Amino acid sequence: MKYILAPSILAADFKCLEKQMKMTEESGAEYLHFDVMDGMFVPSISFGMPVLKSIRNATNQVMDVHLMIQEPIRYVEEFAKAGADIITVHLEACSDVQKTIEKIRDCGKKAAISICPETPAAELAPYLEMVDMILIMSVHPGFGGQKFIPDSLQKIRDVKAMVEEKNVKTDIEVDGGIYTTNVEDVLDAGANVIVAGSAVFGGDPAANTKAMMEILKKYE
Ligand code: DX5
Ligand code: ZN
Repeated sequence: MKYILAPSILAADFKCLEKQMKMTEESGAEYLHFDVMDGMFVPSISFGMPVLKSIRNATNQVMDVHLMIQEPIRYVEEFAKAGADIITVHLEACSDVQKTIEKIRDCGKKAAISICPETPAAELAPYLEMVDMILIMSVHPGFGGQKFIPDSLQKIRDVKAMVEEKNVKTDIEVDGGIYTTNVEDVLDAGANVIVAGSAVFGGDPAANTKAMMEILKKYE
């Protein structure tokens, strides 16, 4: 199993974004997490396709695009064209989850589904074999810098058990409130892709990435 760090640029300093992205890449972060918010599914608004297109070629990292938008199927093609490698949609935001996953696949991209803290893990069951990754939100989506919700650990264990039972190779990503102080709990519960915004970009992104990577490497 591969253990991957996905720094969320939501917490980056946008006036020197390229430099900060490079620092995380050179320090071992394989993914770059790109949080898209529409002001409808979540209360805030972040950034979209033009920003992704503009930064796509500034890094070789895998572009891990997290769509926190209502009916994301409407924009799958545009995010695929703008440079997404993995497209994650929220189960709660899709009127037809399967059709949305198929659309992502038709665009030649990896597909993932995410659930909010109040959505039970069991709701993922019908889709486990259709996706490359499950994203478990460990905060309420919409803002960076929130506190990790402790109940998320049991949810990670439940999803891990479901994945093992079906004998599929689905990655388990966790997003929100993860720092060097609690990342081991998240990994121990069964996650293998770690999103970190404030923990990476609050301070020196290179040193912070290295500190996280040192912990992740212990699990390989
Ligand atoms: C929250 C976003 C997260 C966020 C994580 O809605 O999906 O990716 O940027 O930020 P931290 O690591 O600061 O909780
Ligand atoms: Zn995210």
